Amino acid sequence: MKILVTGCAGYIGATFTYKALLEGYDVVGVDSLICSNPREIQKIHNDFPKKFTFIKEDLAESCDLVAKALRNNSIEAVIHFAGLKAVNESEIMPLLYWSNNVGGTINLLKMMEMNGIKKIIFSSSATVYGDSSNQPVCEKTDLKPVSVYGNTKVTIENLLHDLTKQNKVKAVALRYFNPVGAHKEKKIFENPNVGSNNLMPKIVRVALNLDDSLSVHGSDYDTRDGTGERDYIHIDDLVEGHFKALDYLSYSDNFEIFNLGTGRSYSVIDIIETFKKVNQVDIKYSLSERREGDVPICYANCNKAKKVLGWKAKRNLETMCKDTWDAVKAYRNEFK
Ligand code: NAD
Ligand code: WQD
Repeated sequence: MKILVTGCAGYIGATFTYKALLEGYDVVGVDSLICSNPREIQKIHNDFPKKFTFIKEDLAESCDLVAKALRNNSIEAVIHFAGLKAVNESEIMPLLYWSNNVGGTINLLKMMEMNGIKKIIFSSSATVYGDSSNQPVCEKTDLKPVSVYGNTKVTIENLLHDLTKQNKVKAVALRYFNPVGAHKEKKIFENPNVGSNNLMPKIVRVALNLDDSLSVHGSDYDTRDGTGERDYIHIDDLVEGHFKALDYLSYSDNFEIFNLGTGRSYSVIDIIETFKKVNQVDIKYSLSERREGDVPICYANCNKAKKVLGWKAKRNLETMCKDTWDAVKAYRNEFK
C-alpha cells in the first residue's frame, strides 16, 4: 500500500514514516523543512532507498509537486502531520498559524479530491480540550482551546467532519496527548536543538549540558506534588495507533476522533526523577512561576480507541525516558 505522509521530516512524521516503511508500506513524504532537518530525510532514505520518495514543498504555498505525486502514484491514504505547533508562537503570529495549518490542510484536501483520494488521518491534539475540569478527558468532553494553535486544530477537525458528511473524505482525527521517546530502532528522535518548549526536549538539553538547569513551570497547582500533570505517551504506541486508524478507514465511512494517550498522568517531578533514575544522569532543576496558558492537569480517557480500534498504549514511563536518552546519546556529538 502506498501512502502520502505530510510533515515527514518532523519528530512524529519521520518516526511514523520509518515505521511504515519497516511495515512494508511505500511512502511518498512531503515536508517544507520549516521546522525540521533534511538529516531525518537522509536517514530514512539511507535505509529505504527504493520505497521512500521525498518532496520538499510547503503545503500552504503551492501543492504542485504533491498534486503530481497524487496523480501518478496510486496513493491510497494521506497521513497528515504537517503543521506548526508552538503554542506561544501561535499567539504572536496568528495569521501564520491559520494560513499554514488550516490553509495547508485545505490545499491538501483539494488535491486529494481532484485525485480521488479519500482516506486521511489527521494529527490533532489534546490542546483542543484546554483547561477542562472533567479529567480524564474523553472525545465528547467540551472543547475549550486556549490558543490560536488549538483553534486551528479544532477548525481542521470540523472541516474534516463537514467533508465526511458529504462523502468527500473518510477521516480520522487522532488527538495526541504528550508524545515522547524514540522508536525501537532509534534512528529518529525529537531534536533538542529546535527550540521546543516541551518538557522532554528541555530535560534532554540539561542532560546534554546544553542548558544548566530546567525551570519547572509552577509548583503550586492543585496536583499531587504541585507541578503540572500530563499524559505522556511513547512514540511507538502513538505510531501503532496510526496503523490501527488506517485499518479502521478501510471499513468505515464515518468521521471519528480518538484520544491517543495512556490514561495516566505524571507530574513534571515524576518525569525528571524517572529520567534521572533510568538513565543515571543528573538533571538540575529549579521551581519557577507558572507558564502562561498552562493547565494544571490533562490526561486521556482512551476507552474509545481501545473499543473501536483495538488499540492501547503499552509502554511505561521508564521506557519512554530510557528510549529518549538512548536515541539522543547515540548522536550526542552533534549537540556540542
Ligand atoms: P514537528 O514540528 O517535529 O513536525 C512537523 C513537520 O511539519 C515539520 O517537519 C515541518 O517542517 C512540517 N511542516 C509544517 N508546516 C508545513 C507545511 N505548510 N508544509 C509542509 N510541511 C510543513 O512536529 P511533531 O511533533 O512531529 O508534530 C506533528 C503533528 O502532530 C503536528 O501537526 C502537531 O501539531 C501534532 N501534535 C504534536 C504533539 C507533540 O507534542 N509533538 C502533540 C499533539 C499534536
Ligand atoms: C508539560 C509539562 C509544563 C517545559 C504542549 C502544547 C500542546 C501539545 C504538547 C501539540 C507542563 C512543564 C515544560 C519546561 C516545565 N503540543 N514544563 N518546564 O504543556 O502539555 O502541551 O505540548 O499539540 O499543544 O500546549 O506540554 O511538554 O510543554 O509541558 O515545567 O521547561 O511540563 O509546565 O506542566 P503541554 P509540555
